Amino acid sequence: MTTTDSRAAAAARALFAERFGAEPVGTWSAPGRVNLIGEHTDYNDGFVLPFAIQHRTHVALAPRADGVFRVRVASTFDDTTAELAVAELAEVFPERRDEVPEWARYPLGVAWALLAASGTDPASVPGVDLAFASEVPVGAGLSSSAAIEGATAVALADAWAIHLDRVALAKVGRRAENEAVGAPTGIMDQMAALLGRADAAIFLDCRSLEAEVVDLGFADAGLELVVIDTGVKHSHATGGYGERRAACERGAAALGVPALRDVTLDDLPRLAGLVDDVTFRRVRHVVTEDQRVLDTVRTLREQGPTAIGDLLVASHASMRDDFEISVPELDTAVEAALSAGAVGARMTGGGFGGAAIALVARDRVQAVSDAATAAFAAAGFAAPTIFTVTPSAGAARD
Ligand code: GLA
Repeated sequence: MTTTDSRAAAAARALFAERFGAEPVGTWSAPGRVNLIGEHTDYNDGFVLPFAIQHRTHVALAPRADGVFRVRVASTFDDTTAELAVAELAEVFPERRDEVPEWARYPLGVAWALLAASGTDPASVPGVDLAFASEVPVGAGLSSSAAIEGATAVALADAWAIHLDRVALAKVGRRAENEAVGAPTGIMDQMAALLGRADAAIFLDCRSLEAEVVDLGFADAGLELVVIDTGVKHSHATGGYGERRAACERGAAALGVPALRDVTLDDLPRLAGLVDDVTFRRVRHVVTEDQRVLDTVRTLREQGPTAIGDLLVASHASMRDDFEISVPELDTAVEAALSAGAVGARMTGGGFGGAAIALVARDRVQAVSDAATAAFAAAGFAAPTIFTVTPSAGAARD
């Protein structure tokens, strides 16, 4: 239970009253996330190190008292109120998802996947109304989608008395994203939204789904985590993300292993003779990135956050050169941050736009921000949005 009452929670309650003409029974929320390191490793059964941020998506909810078995969803980021009968969810998802407004596929997809995962008879649960408001910037690579999924999952689990653990709820979110939305993403974002802890990152083994809390200690080390949102929008339901995933699967198949998690640096010379250069570089990114996650966790534990800068920089170079998911705006943000004295910097999230992160000494934050703004102006890019984030708690009733 969080004690703070944010503006977004109030906005969710106000929207609920406006659209549904009633009062919600409560609000629930889930955070966006920043991935500190471990990019495009999750769907390769590898390692990731994300943390939940203070920006949250709130949902106001009430079970319907009128005996109508429908799920209705409204949000401050879209004018349409969408609805489906509870019994209809399993008919619409996944094949007929195009009939549902795009944004509503996230919450309605979670409703569908939650009933399926828990084996709940749709006829046994009441209809519900949900109204969303979010502080998580959309398209910034901070996982606004997992925040909606996480908030919906904990709210509906309470409303429908469904008892699933956090990992099961994360899988519900991923299924909604993969099948109801159609984005072939991994499980990192949902795990971060559900398992986040204040001042800590989640070290996740994406094969076993075992999660360890790793203290970050940014504040004690006098560091801030700066987000530089390039404003370049991306979607993982189309194009590049799926192509990268397919290349990884080709690489694993060529080596005869279930996933790139099973490939070591020593296997790379053998792979070079088996696949084309592009596939080889995609695999090399994933294999080296897995190792960088393990090295980052060890370094954080042994030496603290000031020592992880080179690993962040190497991760960015690998995404730029081998995985080819950076864009000029992200490279500019990283270079500007480093030139202004950041300890380390890299793009975060799926790529093709979104945000870069920079780990920065508190007294250099303004200099890094000024440098990024100036570099964007000099390159003719629209001004970036720059803010700091704090490692924060995961999904909860407010
Ligand atoms: C997106 C996906 C995640 C992960 C990252 C890249 O955020 O949702 O599952 O694959 O991209 O690391």
